[in-house]
Amino acid sequence: MRVLVTGASGQLGSEVVRCLRGIRMDVRGVNREDFDVRDVDAVHAAVAEAQPDAIVHCAAYTDIRRAETEPELCAEVNAMGTLNMARAALRANSKLLYVSTARVFPGEGAVPYEPTDRPAAKTVYGLSKAQGEEAIRGLMTRYFILRTSWLYSEASPRLRELTRLAAEGRAVTAMEDMIASPTWAPDLARLIADMLRTERYGTYHAAGEGACTPAGFAQMAVQLLGSRSQVRPEAPAHMPLNGRLDCRALEQAGFRRLPSWEESLSGCLSGQM
Ligand SMILES: NC(=O)c1ccc[n+]([C@@H]2O[C@H](COP(=O)([O-])OP(=O)(O)OC[C@H]3O[C@@H](n4cnc5c(N)ncnc54)[C@H](OP(=O)(O)O)[C@@H]3O)[C@@H](O)[C@H]2O)c1
Repeated sequence: MRVLVTGASGQLGSEVVRCLRGIRMDVRGVNREDFDVRDVDAVHAAVAEAQPDAIVHCAAYTDIRRAETEPELCAEVNAMGTLNMARAALRANSKLLYVSTARVFPGEGAVPYEPTDRPAAKTVYGLSKAQGEEAIRGLMTRYFILRTSWLYSEASPRLRELTRLAAEGRAVTAMEDMIASPTWAPDLARLIADMLRTERYGTYHAAGEGACTPAGFAQMAVQLLGSRSQVRPEAPAHMPLNGRLDCRALEQAGFRRLPSWEESLSGCLSGQM
């Protein structure tokens, strides 16, 4: 199977490329230097040249805070860029897997969102990702929309900072008012590899099982690292607070749900323990 992965230099894209290569798929990872997803001609040329059986579209404008002051740029990359990818996938007769986010929902209440819940984003970023979803649904049938939340990996600057502070025994600050499911990028990459080999198209939720606050996550990391660092509360971010996703539809479609966030965090940190 030939797969084109956009955003291959990013947190998730790099793991997807690594995972697909590990199972001997013919993978081409592309970055912004290869083409800008906003450039429709460049997108069509690159996809026509690669002739992929599947595209994993990870490239996105992901700076949630900055998006509030750059709404046009965010929409161009996440909504128009995704429309460009969908059109090119259609023309190349390729499946498309689009990585979306829990932030398409308003983040209210305390119940996990289901794939059938109606998106109603409260942020510029969430709205642009929802528009990307709509662009795909309006054009294609052979698509997977995979909403996830709170991605992290060994390379995440935030996790590296946390482990550094823990190693030095210094205090760690983290929010206590947001709750979501931390998702280890290699876990999601494995699911993406499984999905691509099926025709079980649709909109799915996939995140680490369970949920916690950033402070709870930091506390668990500190504990796993055997550190005595204290975790102190951080100022509220004024962002949607409930990022939990109901992932049961994955199982109903015959896919494996992701491991618990605690198990995956332990796996992620095991190289540093
Ligand atoms: N991070 C999370 O917590 C989270 C949660 C839910 C969903 N998601 C979704 O998961 C996907 C991957 O996220 P991530 O955390 O891996 O993101 P990331 O680390 O910020 O990587 C984003 C990638 O997109 C590329 N990119 C940005 N603008 C582009 C453009 N105009 N044209 C081409 N490429 C462009 C970046 O290239 P440069 O390096 O050159 O800028 C980078 O490779 C995204 O779709 C995101 O919306 C993320």
